[in-house]
Amino acid sequence: MTGPANSLEVRDVSAGYGGSDIITSVTLAAAQGRITTIAGPNGAGKSTLMKTLAGLLRPRLGQI
Ligand SMILES: Nc1ncnc2c1ncn2[C@@H]1O[C@H](COP(=O)(O)OP(=O)(O)O)[C@@H](O)[C@H]1O
Ligand SMILES: [Mg+2]
Repeated sequence: MTGPANSLEVRDVSAGYGGSDIITSVTLAAAQGRITTIAGPNGAGKSTLMKTLAGLLRPRLGQI
C-alpha cells in the first residue's frame, strides 16, 4: 500500500544569517492531510526553518 503523497519534502537543507548556518542538513517530509510539528528549545532554529520553507530565507544547501 502507498501512503498519502508528501506535499512538502525537504532534503539536507542548511540555512542561516550572515556567515553562520543556523540549521544544517534538515531532512523531513510532511504528508498531505496530516499535521506536522517542529519542536525544540528556544534558539534551536524552528523559526529559521519556517522562514526557509516559506521562501523568506534562501537555503544554502539542499532542496525544498
Ligand atoms: N535575523 C537574524 N540574524 C541573525 N541571527 C538570527 C536571526 N534570527 C535568528 N537568529 C539566530 O538564529 C538562532 C535560531 O533562532 P530561531 O530560528 O529564531 O530559533 P527558534 O525559533 O527555534 O527559537 C538563534 O541563535 C538566533 O539568535
Ligand atoms: Mg521561533
